[in-house]
Amino acid sequence: MRQMRWKAEAALAARGQPVTVEVHTRPEEVRAALREEALAGLCGSPKELSPKWLYDERGSQLFDDITRLPEYYPTRCEREILEAHAADIARLSGADTLIELGSGTSEKTRLLLEAFGTRGQLQRFVPFDVSETFLRRSARELAREYPGLHVHAVVGDFERHLRHLPRGGRRLVAFLGGTIGNFKPAPRARFFQELAAGLEPGDGLLLGTDLIKSRTRLFAAYNDRAGVTAAFNRNVLSVLNRELDADFDLKAFEHQAPFNEKHGWIEMRLISLRTQVVRLGALKRFAQFEEGEVLRTEVSCKFRSAQVEAELAAAGLSLAAWWTDAGGDFALSLAFKR
Ligand code: AVJ
Repeated sequence: MRQMRWKAEAALAARGQPVTVEVHTRPEEVRAALREEALAGLCGSPKELSPKWLYDERGSQLFDDITRLPEYYPTRCEREILEAHAADIARLSGADTLIELGSGTSEKTRLLLEAFGTRGQLQRFVPFDVSETFLRRSARELAREYPGLHVHAVVGDFERHLRHLPRGGRRLVAFLGGTIGNFKPAPRARFFQELAAGLEPGDGLLLGTDLIKSRTRLFAAYNDRAGVTAAFNRNVLSVLNRELDADFDLKAFEHQAPFNEKHGWIEMRLISLRTQVVRLGALKRFAQFEEGEVLRTEVSCKFRSAQVEAELAAAGLSLAAWWTDAGGDFALSLAFKR
């Protein structure tokens, strides 16, 4: 039985198209970036780290668990929108190349690939992600599942390597999940600018944004009862322990995720439960924490439609469609480069 399954898989793999992998980020560069950020973000005050360090193997698994929590609506809402409108997206975009930034588990990607596939429209799929191992695995799987599709994976950081998006054809860039919310307003404007600068007139952007709603529901989504988000947040300390030879005591930090009304974002924090000194071995430094001191690990901005439209327009991207789930909790927008 095992043998047979393996043979079937081997046969499928043999039929799959060759996969291209273009690498812009090496693991040593990622580690160097973490060291630089940790020095700036942990050794002074206020303390802050970029949310990208939350996603090691365990962090990615924990995020996956978050997407299935009863309180965490964004993933389900976005899937609902894609199920309803994937065909519209394929038709309106007219794209032959689908680029996906931060391609995640590509479960939602499949909804798009199916819709494009039905129209016989898609030639190329470009998953763009920082994790090379992860990308290689999912690129091979997709090439096998979609014969005839050219999978061109790009290993890079979408804050730095947007100019390396493959050219040619009519492109649709998908940036799903609400990850755009991790950018504060100024870097977000720069991100839209850089993305639009690399597009040709008629190329599109499919953007997922979480919407402003009651504080209670926003709060619950980031402070779930099962404590999965708390574990996801604290896990960044394990990442620091491993990658920077640090000695964070995970029990000495508490998860907090309040909604910041002024900025319209949820922010995840780790609060130091006591005065403590943490060794950062790889930096030959120590980080001092006061009791109650905040380490910010993520902001997750929530949007209104007018704001998304205005921000896209400022970058030369015209909004063509705006879809929400039935509850109006999450939105997908489709915009085109002018
Ligand atoms: C993957 C960035 C969209 O902001 O909701 C989930 C990450 N953080 N719970 C989000 C996250 C805490 C998530 N994004």
